[in-house]
Amino acid sequence: MIITIDGPSGAGKGTVAAYLATKYNLHKLDTGLLYRAMASILLERHIEPDDTKSIHDIAKTLRIEDTNREGLRTETVAALASKIAAIPEVRNVLNQIQKDFAFGNHEGYRGVILDGRDIGTVICPESPCKIYLTASQEVRARRRVKEVLTNHAAPTESNIKNMALD
Ligand code: C5P
Repeated sequence: MIITIDGPSGAGKGTVAAYLATKYNLHKLDTGLLYRAMASILLERHIEPDDTKSIHDIAKTLRIEDTNREGLRTETVAALASKIAAIPEVRNVLNQIQKDFAFGNHEGYRGVILDGRDIGTVICPESPCKIYLTASQEVRARRRVKEVLTNHAAPTESNIKNMALD
């Protein structure tokens, strides 16, 4: 089972993904965290956003586990993630990581759920279950402010069980 969730930021993709992952025992990938992990590595190594060669080299060493790095929800990381997401070589490498995850073997899970830009179109166009989630600008802005203030976005599987979807 492959479920994809696409849509604008602040619509609640991460929240719905975490909810469905728990409910249906799906392995979840928040694809934005890959870009954020890249950004955090660049910041750590003092690599400039225009050093495309070094950035491409780092992208090739990126692993899913890097999405567990600390401090990925800060504004500094988000801003740099957004900048490097515009580099085609980086997108190519990160797209492949997402495809490998989507079509990989996930023992113990019933399937996978991926959220983020391009998921239902570029990464898994053949996914049988594609969700495009959006919300009013006001709601998206409110969610985004809350995320920035608390430095975290969607809840994890571990604390979603008692959460009501807003
Ligand atoms: O969704 P999130 O804010 O964590 O994503 C960080 C940045 O990574 C976004 O601003 C976007 O530019 C980029 N991104 C992307 N493709 C994805 C997920 C995120 O380009 N599938």
